[in-house]
Amino acid sequence: MARISVLGISGGVSTPSRTTAVVNALVKAVALRVPADTGLIEITEAAPSIFAGLSRGALGASGEAIIQRVEKADLLVVGTPVYRASYSGALNYRALAGKTVLLAATGGSPYHGLVLEHQLRPLFGFFGAVTVPTGVYGAPDDFVDAKIVGAAIIERISRAATEAVSLLNSSDANTAVATRVG
Ligand SMILES: Cc1cc2nc3c(=O)[nH]c(=O)nc-3n(C[C@H](O)[C@H](O)[C@H](O)COP(=O)(O)O)c2cc1C
Repeated sequence: MARISVLGISGGVSTPSRTTAVVNALVKAVALRVPADTGLIEITEAAPSIFAGLSRGALGASGEAIIQRVEKADLLVVGTPVYRASYSGALNYRALAGKTVLLAATGGSPYHGLVLEHQLRPLFGFFGAVTVPTGVYGAPDDFVDAKIVGAAIIERISRAATEAVSLLNSSDANTAVATRVG
């Protein structure tokens, strides 16, 4: 498989952030399986640039640069803390159609894990993204401070990364077939 670019996006606002820890772990797990250039956007740092205007044209150079990083990535790993049973409000990106996206979230309660399926997956479906079947949710017991320690979440990170690489491989194959047929 050709070298891919993997971009993590974390909506975590704490320092250190559990959400960023999960996003970073997923990015690393993918990079162990396929040659990859990796990066991370933390919404706390990007917010002044990406919310500087109501439209893309109104953003400055730093906001445009962030959007281009998102557009150019082969795989996005997107994580949010659960806030009031939903995602943080900073995840609405454009140009996600056809993009492979790995979903992650962390919460203060194990009972809000379905936020991945009921909030994030439909949101990214609306944008036309292709979401990896396994999402990763981190509950408090999975961490010591913001370090991942839970065996189950570590196994899930591994499975999600394998699925993401497999999905990227099959999209390569689909693109190749489409090119041949076209
Ligand atoms: C305003 C606010 C609302 C929250 N609402 C929820 C919630 O509805 N369900 C939940 O499981 N955790 C909730 N939490 C807990 C965070 O999701 C949890 O601590 C998360 O792991 C923090 O991620 P971070 O370390 O990346 O900031 C809330 C936290 C805050 C500050």
